[in-house]
Amino acid sequence: MVALGCDHGGYELMKEVISYLEERNIPYINFGTDSEASCDYPVFAKQVGTEVAKGKCEFGILICGTGIGISIAANKIKGVRAALCHDCFSAQATRLHNNANILALGGRVVGSGLAIKIVDIFLNTPFSGEERHSRRIAQIEEL
Ligand code: RB5
Repeated sequence: MVALGCDHGGYELMKEVISYLEERNIPYINFGTDSEASCDYPVFAKQVGTEVAKGKCEFGILICGTGIGISIAANKIKGVRAALCHDCFSAQATRLHNNANILALGGRVVGSGLAIKIVDIFLNTPFSGEERHSRRIAQIEEL
């Protein structure tokens, strides 16, 4: 299950992400927003972050205009490892090394073609499980 959340800056791109998920029968919960009306991204970061931190959803995808505000907000929630990725290498590396559980994107930064490729890599790359990465993630959780 994938938890989705965006503000008005991510609304257009989120529609593309939803199409990607539906075409592949990947289940999701969409916490909104559901229009281009101006809204506050921390609200959606909190809803998606809580869902993921509680283990109700394996992954989350958060989109605001830049991806910055919404990832900062989500990372305030213990257990959330939100990674802002605008390239394929980072999307792969953050799964392999950080076991990131939320992908953040900037709807005003990347085109939908690249964004969907990033989503695809993020959702399909397993954590490496290597000891040094697990150790570092545990250190993050203790901060
Ligand atoms: C909204 O205008 C914009 O500030 C927001 O989408 C995001 O980019 C914040 O980091």
